[in-house]
Amino acid sequence: MSRSGGHRPSTNSSPYEPLAPHIDEPSVDVWIDADTDLGWIRRLAPLLRTHRVPLVASLVTAVLAMLIGVSVPLILRAAIDQALDAETRDLEPLVIALVVLGAIRALLTFVYRYGLYAIAFKLEHQMRTILQDHLSRQSFAFFDRVQSGQIISRANSDIRSIQLFLAFVPLMAVQLLSFALALAIMLNTNVLLTLIALAPMPAVFFMGKHIRDLIFPQSWIIQARQAEIATVVDESVNGVRVVKSFAAEERQIQELAKASLRLKWISLQLHRARANFNPIIENLPRLGLALVLLYGGLQVIDGNLTIGDLVAFNIYIVVLQAPFRFLGMILIMGQRAKASAGRIYEILDEPIALFDRPGAVDLVEPEGRVEFVDATFAYGTEVIGGAEGARTESVIKNLDLLIEPGERVAIVGSTGSGKSTLPRLLLRFYDLQSGSVKVDGHDVRDLTGASLRHGVGMVPDEPFLFSASVHDNIAYAIPTASRADVESAARSARAHGFIENLSDGYDTVVGERGYDLSGGQRQRIAIARTLLANPKILVLDDATSAIDVQVEAEIHEALDALLKDRTTIIIAHRLSTIGLADRIVLLDNGRIIADGTHAELIATEPRYLEILDSGPTADAPAQSGPIQTGPIQEGAL
Ligand SMILES: Nc1ncnc2c1ncn2[C@@H]1O[C@H](COP(=O)(O)OP(=O)(O)OP(=O)(O)O)[C@@H](O)[C@H]1O
Ligand SMILES: [Mg+2]
Repeated sequence: MSRSGGHRPSTNSSPYEPLAPHIDEPSVDVWIDADTDLGWIRRLAPLLRTHRVPLVASLVTAVLAMLIGVSVPLILRAAIDQALDAETRDLEPLVIALVVLGAIRALLTFVYRYGLYAIAFKLEHQMRTILQDHLSRQSFAFFDRVQSGQIISRANSDIRSIQLFLAFVPLMAVQLLSFALALAIMLNTNVLLTLIALAPMPAVFFMGKHIRDLIFPQSWIIQARQAEIATVVDESVNGVRVVKSFAAEERQIQELAKASLRLKWISLQLHRARANFNPIIENLPRLGLALVLLYGGLQVIDGNLTIGDLVAFNIYIVVLQAPFRFLGMILIMGQRAKASAGRIYEILDEPIALFDRPGAVDLVEPEGRVEFVDATFAYGTEVIGGAEGARTESVIKNLDLLIEPGERVAIVGSTGSGKSTLPRLLLRFYDLQSGSVKVDGHDVRDLTGASLRHGVGMVPDEPFLFSASVHDNIAYAIPTASRADVESAARSARAHGFIENLSDGYDTVVGERGYDLSGGQRQRIAIARTLLANPKILVLDDATSAIDVQVEAEIHEALDALLKDRTTIIIAHRLSTIGLADRIVLLDNGRIIADGTHAELIATEPRYLEILDSGPTADAPAQSGPIQTGPIQEGAL
């Protein structure tokens, strides 16, 4: 079950200062009701309550406008019967009354419509912020399995359809009220005539219900297909380099066409259902109009009814129709909104797997000791909306590892051996199944997430750059950082030189994900970004793979100067990179199979030689032929 509020960062008073400045206004101050047994609108109640005052004001205005609307036919009736027919009264005051009432009604209509839409758009904003807030608290396991197109479509069209419906409901309520008033006036005028006018209405209602039952599943499918299309477009754009390099544009177009046709088909089904019934629903009340003319006309001829009565009656029939037609529309919108709400709640009801324990403490001025104790971990295979599924095979198996403060350790192993998984566990991107990961003796689960991630910095193997300036990309962790600080971090990462040569220097805006930079340039910006945050424990996950050996050595020299006793974990394939570490941990299939200096491993561990010999390591510079023995630093530097 998801939580309802109560997820603010812990506020225990400790000297730890968050890196990024605090935003004063909380991003979300309301939350939907966490009780999944409630109906979808009931679950929105906490949100709706925040708009009580403007909602009531808009409704009152709407009711006033409606009252004027209902009174107009009465004035018309008086004008026809008394001024025109009986010639007992002046026409002018009645005409002036009609004009003035019309103007007032126009003004009131503006006010309540504007008010209702303002509320609806604020609700839309609130829902979107809640969704984003929730997403930002989701576990990595969630993002591993969810498609971004799904999230994008839920954040857009689903929220929009709820918003439309919610704006519509108060209008509908007012319509129903006017229906009741019109009905009362009609009954007061002539009961039989009213019944005749109403005769087709039950048919309208039942047909509306039939459409609803038909349309509900279809609107659900439509939203899902829209999300499919969003996913295809998202992947075509983000994966454009792969697409083009395989000249597979045609295939992507086919994919999109397929998804698009599927959407077209289901949309047409829906509109066919509507087209079948809507004309009937709309025209049935007109049958009532004809019947009223026939019977009412005869009544007028017989002198039982005035002409004014008949005219007013005809206008009220139109007023009566509106709710019935609206009813059909609102039911359809309601079904859509319900489907959309279901899809949004599906995300919001995802439990937040990783968040600060009650009483979690801040990691303050860490020494930098890292410890894995009997750690076992498997990536989950749950599917969105479903229960937690079976776990895959453990990726880390009963692993014990102690890294002392200031040590520089290389983690080496064949691909898929679990190297990158270790820092993910250290940063608590995922939680262990058993055992523990400790920093300075604290289990990472007992530390606040923010302080842990302040203390441990990771440069990932695939750096992600935002579509922002180079400065902003480097200053991501500390948006208030000065240009001098950013430059100094960039210098340490050996990025300053090339950044200066960009068209606008540090103000150059990089393209999406930084694809207009080289791989090595991207990596250096990512390193600068992490260095600016100056973590006590630094993890470089293949972070220098695209940087040439000489520059890499310089970066490591700069790292030394920057923080003397920083703990550094280097995950590497290249011999030159491995050479920068004092100690090497050999990982195989989630287990440590050797641990020691390069020389020790060379001497005692044939599997180490195997790994050095195979794959990308073999391209190490200054190494011709198979590696023999001895320290490799000279060769690498
Ligand atoms: N997000 C994930 N969800 C599920 N399984 C994953 C995930 N990330 C990695 N794995 C699996 O976990 C295993 C270890 O992955 P890991 O990324 O730690 O390998 P690695 O040693 O870093 O490999 P490489 O040298 O190729 O980077 C692999 O079998 C991989 O398929
Ligand atoms: Mg890896």
